[in-house]
Amino acid sequence: MKVITVAPGISRSVRLDDRPEPLSDAAALLVEAVALGVCGTDREIIEGAYGSSPTGSDRLVLGHESLGRVLSTPPASSFAAGDLVVGIVRHPDPVPCAACAEGEWDMCRNGRYIEHGIKALDGFAAERFHLDPKFAVKVAPSLGLCGVLLEPASVLAKAWEHIDRVGGRTRSWRPRSVLVTGAGPVGLLAALMARQRGLDLHVFDRNRAGPKPGLVRALGGTHHAIDIPDDLAPDIVIECTGAPAVVVDMLSRTSSAGIVCLTGISSPGQALPFDAGAFNRSMVLRNDLVFGSVNANRRHYELAERSLAMADPDWLAGLITRRVPLARWHEAFERRSGDVKVVLTFDGDGP
Ligand code: BGC
Repeated sequence: MKVITVAPGISRSVRLDDRPEPLSDAAALLVEAVALGVCGTDREIIEGAYGSSPTGSDRLVLGHESLGRVLSTPPASSFAAGDLVVGIVRHPDPVPCAACAEGEWDMCRNGRYIEHGIKALDGFAAERFHLDPKFAVKVAPSLGLCGVLLEPASVLAKAWEHIDRVGGRTRSWRPRSVLVTGAGPVGLLAALMARQRGLDLHVFDRNRAGPKPGLVRALGGTHHAIDIPDDLAPDIVIECTGAPAVVVDMLSRTSSAGIVCLTGISSPGQALPFDAGAFNRSMVLRNDLVFGSVNANRRHYELAERSLAMADPDWLAGLITRRVPLARWHEAFERRSGDVKVVLTFDGDGP
């Protein structure tokens, strides 16, 4: 079968390989790939800047945003042949740490977790793969190809869960407005969940052409392409660009007692002037909170699945701007103007 692999750390080593079919495993789901979402992390791995291969191998099967169809299940399984499923990206560390022991591997304390297609665990860019049922999530058939958005949505479901919980530190927390920076798939899914909470939505993204401004407006949000108005003081900021200048700007953008959630993963080595004294002073005097959020556990995948199922199906489908068949796989990793989410398809146009 065909698989897409990279040699982590070696730029442009990505290629299509032939590998034997998965060995039979009576305890696992056998899944045929339907689609794979491409994200910035995949491109960083292809550039050699991130990622590691499984122990004993010098190549890693790429891909962590999966959508597959179950071919066979272990006996007495809650899954059935034909179910659409998504694989959970992160697996707990072997110790396990206190967080992983609780099933909260997204909060792993010792960094020894592994991640499909990213860190020491083969990914989902394979025509067929096994999933441990404990790390598989069923997707409503009505979502069809949009089920491939579940992994990025799970990351935002976690971010929102944590925002809701830390906001609950005071009895008076009744947020009204949110500013999302970046209108890529992560930003737009953050924006969707903001509207599902009834918040006044503002999205800052420099793209004036292409589908992004329209996708923001279709949610009932305001799209800011040039500047963020000075008098906009949102209760919540969700930073999804990872661009250092935007990150620094966002640290002082909220209203008093505001929450800034950082979700973008930036490259190091881009130092900027930063007034740590002013930052500390305003953080303390305004009871502000800035926190980072990454990855997701099963609960977040389930929350995300509900959120996607409640979304307008046409809006959701509008996030998938390019479908690339496996035969032209390398095009999926190219950046093109107008791209929001690019999806590699394994069975033509998807379910
Ligand atoms: C994935 C996360 C992962 C993170 C760090 C992101 O692209 O969506 O699941 O934890 O990369 O490796």
